[in-house]
Amino acid sequence: MTTTQLTWPLAGRTVNRMGYGAMQLAGPGVFGPPKDRATALAVLREALALGVNHIDTSDFYGPHVTNQLIREALHPYQDDLVIVTKVGAVRDSQGAWLPALEPADIERSVHDNLRNLGLDALDVVNLRVMGDIHAPSEGSIERQVAALAALREKGLVRHVGLSNVTAAQVAEAQRIVPVVCVQNHYNLVHRADDAWIDDLGRQGIAYVPFFPLGGFTPIQSDALDRIARSVGATPMTVALAWLLHRAPNVLLIPGTSSLAHLRENMQAALLPLSDVALAELDAIGGRAATY
Ligand SMILES: NC(=O)c1ccc[n+]([C@@H]2O[C@H](COP(=O)([O-])OP(=O)(O)OC[C@H]3O[C@@H](n4cnc5c(N)ncnc54)[C@H](OP(=O)(O)O)[C@@H]3O)[C@@H](O)[C@H]2O)c1
Repeated sequence: MTTTQLTWPLAGRTVNRMGYGAMQLAGPGVFGPPKDRATALAVLREALALGVNHIDTSDFYGPHVTNQLIREALHPYQDDLVIVTKVGAVRDSQGAWLPALEPADIERSVHDNLRNLGLDALDVVNLRVMGDIHAPSEGSIERQVAALAALREKGLVRHVGLSNVTAAQVAEAQRIVPVVCVQNHYNLVHRADDAWIDDLGRQGIAYVPFFPLGGFTPIQSDALDRIARSVGATPMTVALAWLLHRAPNVLLIPGTSSLAHLRENMQAALLPLSDVALAELDAIGGRAATY
């Protein structure tokens, strides 16, 4: 059996690698209020009760909705909680996602996050680079990173992360400001960043996969179902456990609006996987990883 370290240093604190992504708490299409507000608040409180101390959010979820729910459910925040937010987009009146990557947009978004989360400073702000979520595109992000670095100098942002980016963009950003995390699309079947994750880990940078369960259409795989049956767990728990085994710098932020799914997902931290099971899970993505 392969066991795995369950914490990682992030933003000056030690976070449990099983975190929580708040995007699913907004209404359909990540737009407007949740269909069940009481459950949304209960999910947030239960996540912390189950040991989550790393929450991923953005003021463009709703917009404003998930941040306001987090504030209502959890403020004043416990000392060890790291809230990671992101800037780089806004929503129009129909819910469309529009890039907001001018320095003035970034400053406005940081202030929106501060106000709606009820904070004086944000633990980590990810610059979310717009573009194809399956394959981030190259291009300079120097102006945007410099804008975040200036907000860090002012004390409004403690740490900077990047989302939907390439290795070259991380290297460019590191010439301006330390980068503490990278948040890209990655899961059991979408493995584009495989070669890069361990390199980030060696630099002490957290890799935080978005869509860890496959996103709006969770992963469906006969092989995953079979392996899950063989280890006596659900497919989603196994998909998350595989990510925990993938590398120690992989931090999980599965999203759910359901208390039952939250509890199920948290079981991943308790699920050992044999070398045989890990090899079979790797084969789903068509690659072999190192553990
Ligand atoms: N940086 C970016 O560009 C970016 C993009 C997307 C997401 N994110 C962040 O990453 C987080 C995770 O991504 P995500 O929420 O989009 O996708 P995800 O975690 O891969 O999957 C969420 C979907 O899986 C369902 N689900 C969760 N647990 C389940 C379970 N145990 N059994 C069955 N279905 C389950 C959820 O529905 P229920 O609500 O019914 O459980 C939801 O439809 C987000 O919350 C957000 O914070 C970042």
